[in-house]
Amino acid sequence: MRIDILTILPELLEGPFSASIMKRAQDKGHVDIHLHNIRDYSTDKHKNVDDYQYGGGAGMVMSIEPIVTIIEKLQKERFYDDVIFMTPDGTLLEQGVCNELSLKKNLILLCGHYKGIDERIREHFITKELSIGSYVLSGGELAAAVLTDAIVRLLPGVLNNETSALTDSFQDNLLSPPVYTRPPEYRGWKVPKILLSGNFPEIEKWREKKAQERTQERRPDLFDK
Ligand code: ADE
Repeated sequence: MRIDILTILPELLEGPFSASIMKRAQDKGHVDIHLHNIRDYSTDKHKNVDDYQYGGGAGMVMSIEPIVTIIEKLQKERFYDDVIFMTPDGTLLEQGVCNELSLKKNLILLCGHYKGIDERIREHFITKELSIGSYVLSGGELAAAVLTDAIVRLLPGVLNNETSALTDSFQDNLLSPPVYTRPPEYRGWKVPKILLSGNFPEIEKWREKKAQERTQERRPDLFDK
C-alpha cells in the first residue's frame, strides 16, 4: 500500500512514522508513506499557501492552486483509490472505515489548516472526508497520523500475531475484556481465578461476558449495534 500525505507541516508527521510498528511496516515494505510539503507547490513569490476568504470574515483559507497541482501530479503517476480530506466536519472515523481503507492500494490524505480549504477542492478532488472525533485540532496532521496508524496495523504481516488485529476492541462492536499478567497476586489484588485455571473454553466464555459487560457499561451505543 502507498499513502501520500499533503501537508504544510511535514515535520509534524515524521515522528509518528519513525518508530515501532509504523517504522517496521515501512522497513518491511508493507507500506510506502510519502510526505509532500504543499508549500513546495506554491507559485506565489512568498510561498504563501493561504489567502483571505471571499465575503470577509476571520481566518485564512488554504488556496486551491498548490493543492490541485500536487493531487494532479500524483494522479498522473498512478491511480488513487481515494483522496481523503481530514476535517472536523467529516464522517466520524470508525473501525469499519479503517478496515475498508486497509484493502486499498493507493491513498492521498490532505491535511487542512486555518479556516479550511477552498471548497472547490472538496467538490472536484476529495472522495472522502474524515474526522477523528468531535473536537477541533490545530491542523489535520495528527488526524492523518491516527488514520494512517489505524490502517497500517491492519495490513497483512504488519502485526506479529496476525490474529491480534482481529481481536481488537471494535472489530466485533465489543470493547476488549480486561487482561492481566504476572504476578498472580500484587498487594493482595488477585488475578481472576478462571484465568489461571487452564480451562480454555471457560476462559473464552468469561472473556466474552466481560467484553459484553464493559461495552454495555461504557459504550451502550456500540452494544445496541
Ligand atoms: N482537523 C482538525 N480537527 C480535526 C478532526 N477532529 N478530525 C480530522 N481532522 C481535523
